Amino acid sequence: MIPQTFIQDLLNRVDIVDVVGRYVQLKKGGANYMGLCPFHNEKSPSFTVSPTKQFYHCFGCGAHGTAIGFLIEYSGLNFVEAVKDLAQGVGMVVPDDDRLPPAQRAEVQAKSLALSEVMSRAGEFYKQELRTAPQAIAYLKKRGLTGEIAARFGIGYAPSGWDGLRKVFDRYDASELVEAGLLIDRSDEEGGSGKRYDRFRDRIMFPIRNIKGQTIGFGGRVLETGEPKYLNSPETPLFQKGQELYGLFEARQVIREAGYVLVTEGYMDVVALAQLGFPQAVATLGTACTPTHVQKLLRQTDHVIFSFDGDAAGRRAARRALEACLPHAGDDKTLKFLFLPPEHDPDSYVREFGAQAFEQQVRDAMPLSQFLLREVTQDNDLATSEGRARTQFDAKPLLQAMPPSALRLQIVRSLAQVTQTTASEIEALFELSQPVARVRVAPPKAKRTAPMGLERQMIRLLVTYPQLAAMLDHEALSAAEQLAPDNAEMLKQLVQACVALGENANFAALAEQLRTQNADFDPLIAEIAAESDADPEAARLELAGAVRQTKMQVVKAEMDRLAAGGLATDEMRQRYRELMQRQEQLRRQAEVETLPK
Ligand code: UTP
Ligand code: MN
Repeated sequence: MIPQTFIQDLLNRVDIVDVVGRYVQLKKGGANYMGLCPFHNEKSPSFTVSPTKQFYHCFGCGAHGTAIGFLIEYSGLNFVEAVKDLAQGVGMVVPDDDRLPPAQRAEVQAKSLALSEVMSRAGEFYKQELRTAPQAIAYLKKRGLTGEIAARFGIGYAPSGWDGLRKVFDRYDASELVEAGLLIDRSDEEGGSGKRYDRFRDRIMFPIRNIKGQTIGFGGRVLETGEPKYLNSPETPLFQKGQELYGLFEARQVIREAGYVLVTEGYMDVVALAQLGFPQAVATLGTACTPTHVQKLLRQTDHVIFSFDGDAAGRRAARRALEACLPHAGDDKTLKFLFLPPEHDPDSYVREFGAQAFEQQVRDAMPLSQFLLREVTQDNDLATSEGRARTQFDAKPLLQAMPPSALRLQIVRSLAQVTQTTASEIEALFELSQPVARVRVAPPKAKRTAPMGLERQMIRLLVTYPQLAAMLDHEALSAAEQLAPDNAEMLKQLVQACVALGENANFAALAEQLRTQNADFDPLIAEIAAESDADPEAARLELAGAVRQTKMQVVKAEMDRLAAGGLATDEMRQRYRELMQRQEQLRRQAEVETLPK
């Protein structure tokens, strides 16, 4: 867990205008900045960024959030990655959950910076080398690639000498070069003293980029034939094959536009598909598809189509992908599987049959439910009890891996049908968590009445100007509690959050904190994000007024009760006098407040 205080400091240091401005062209318009919303298609700008609130808001689609939220939405980073990214930009070191002491943490960070620097310089070098390598250019041309696509993917060429990278790095013996996987070091081996050489020689180089666009690894293909066909960067602190997808950085915008992502198995498939009209393609890196892959993809889109060869290897890969998908399958996700004829990958298929035929394949892709059922039934004889039992046996771990959902229930039903059982029997037999058949749809949560009147006013003002929280003293909170117990709870939470933020309190910091605490604040945050900024001094006066009136109302109510009781005892009369004094004090306060400061 990254401490809240760090998040607040961070949000105070970064400027959301810079962060958003890196990806969206912004123009100053009044107090805010405007641009075309990156989260929906539009022709005239309805996307605003407020430097005072440190918040963005789109009037077209309602998207809103802080700089952190923007990075999450836009780049598909997760929360921690987004925080790290922003922190790096302003020179802050994120106190990691891996509990390293700060000195060591700084070392780790310095190391990974050094590695990514080395990778990007190598990438530039390979790109330059391609220009003067006619045989490599000829090969790419033969594969149907234009210079434009090669440039988009940063494709390069590693020259054939043993130490080409000497030209790039002053110190060929720098440890980063080996650690980044660019050099192979044989000096530890017998008879190999001082032997260092370039890992990639005479190969077409595909840079592998992370979602931020940093080069973290390479895949190098031989020209024509040779073994191994592809040489890849080894796993390094920057690069883990099971987590990265080739082409995701390049495709992330188009994926949003196309509404789906196509997952293939090869570098060449990605670049060739981009060339032939399917730029929304990515590839796993010669490894099986992992749940992390699926999660990364689902951050970009809720529609994922996997493409596999029709042969046995493709079937096995598809099965692994299915298993990786199950934990993430849900009613709002579409996961599909496309099987090409044996001996074809997407690249060769499109070249042989054309883009339209491939488009049709994409449309006809098999939904996850159907693929799952096919997987469990196809090797079993459903005409026998044993075959049906075996089908259930095979299906059990797959269904257990799925979260409860309407989709799981549908699959259970279909399985029940083909195995001559009932859905409830299967759910019981499989010990499915929260059998969907028995989960009753929960009645919609009683809609909390929107805060009205004074508490509403106070809540709004505080969310907008959290630094004013000190104005709500104990008396004000308990007064609010008596007047409107429901909203008072929200108000109390809000004051606590504001106080916890201390002097760092600003709208963005507060919004980020409330987002994780209480969803009831969300509509209010969205509403305030959409408002133009008011004058803070006016807000201070308004809040003071609301606080005072709340207190007044409670005093008045108690006086009325005492009066109705006829002020029968000395005690009651004494209390009444106190209340009158308090009323007078509050009145005088009001006069002071309205005086210009
Ligand atoms: P393919 O052999 O299908 O390659 O391997 P490809 O991408 O279609 O390339 P072309 O069309 O033959 O040029 C699929 C993926 O498996 C990994 C690579 O990631 C490759 O893109 N692979 C394959 C390796 O890592 N090493 C190899 O030797 C072969
Ligand atoms: Mn291929």
